[in-house]
Amino acid sequence: MTAAAGDIEKAAGVLRAGGLVAFPTETVYGLGADASDPAAVSRIYQAKGRPPTHPLIVHLAGAGHLDGWVGKVPGPARLLAERFWPGPLTLVLRRGPRVSSAATGGLETVGVRVPDHPVALALLSAFGGGAAAPSANRFGSVSPTTAEHVRAELGDAVDFVLDGGPCQVGVESTIVDATSDTLSVLRPGGVPREDLEAVLGSSLQVPSVSPIRVPGQHPSHYAPRARVVLVEPGRVVAEARRARDLGHQVGVFLPPSQDVAAPEAHAVVAVPASTAEYARGLYGFLRELDRAGCDLIVASLPEEKGLGLAIANRLRRAAGPRG
Ligand code: TXA
Ligand code: MG
Repeated sequence: MTAAAGDIEKAAGVLRAGGLVAFPTETVYGLGADASDPAAVSRIYQAKGRPPTHPLIVHLAGAGHLDGWVGKVPGPARLLAERFWPGPLTLVLRRGPRVSSAATGGLETVGVRVPDHPVALALLSAFGGGAAAPSANRFGSVSPTTAEHVRAELGDAVDFVLDGGPCQVGVESTIVDATSDTLSVLRPGGVPREDLEAVLGSSLQVPSVSPIRVPGQHPSHYAPRARVVLVEPGRVVAEARRARDLGHQVGVFLPPSQDVAAPEAHAVVAVPASTAEYARGLYGFLRELDRAGCDLIVASLPEEKGLGLAIANRLRRAAGPRG
């Protein structure tokens, strides 16, 4: 935790005054505002360039703070909250009266989570309310995993940036629709589906990328400037060479299985063999290849289990049609 106590107080004051605070979480940096204040929440949408129909996640200091933010919490949701909070899990529940409809995009449900980061928890405790916070990036681009990313992308649009160092999980929270007794995963993320299933004792539906079930789940989310092309792991090097011969500035995500010291590319990222490390580094890698001037990134999907499911989801979206 690098933010000083004075910074926490200052940031909580900004939230109380209806301002915007970027803060670290274990997943990615969030762009927070008072979730009960429609004017404050609308500033988030402006700063991000995000359509106002896309619902936000409300961040709370603990499971004991749910009162007023959500309606009835069904048994399975309670079980997951007990086991995984604080942590990278968002539960979609019936909304309570405290949450502004500006934050829910007009839906009768709300996503809530308790982040597992000392700076975030200190901020939320000092503030005392709920902070609506999307990832602190411009709409559709790569989520920030350092305070530097936030400053570079949002600059003056944010009133205060709390620096808590690099995010440890690196991909966003897993979102579970817990409005009924039949739960489903709306977005794979930092809590692996297998861990949720082990606690629930039943299997969970995970939608594929293409159907857009809720606003805010566009296929081209999480995209770097460079176009992303996905191929089989064994085809990455050959595809990179082909694209280079066509005149592209090629960036390569070299899979751990591909033992090639220096494929002929403009820039290379060696994908870590550990999925936890891969998830932690993913958005930084995409930014790095953008910064290196690549216009095309060749990558392959990891095995879709554990954190690999979330990584594959983000890569598929990064490679999705731009709009
Ligand atoms: O890890 C995270 O979840 C990060 C950190 C900052 O907490 N936040 C984040 O927020 O990823 P954002 O706004 O980038 O993504 C929120 C997602 C959107 O895809 C939105 O559609 C979904 O949550 N969402 C929010 N409320 C919802 C609801 N009531 N029903 C269905 N989906 C909802
Ligand atoms: Mg986001």
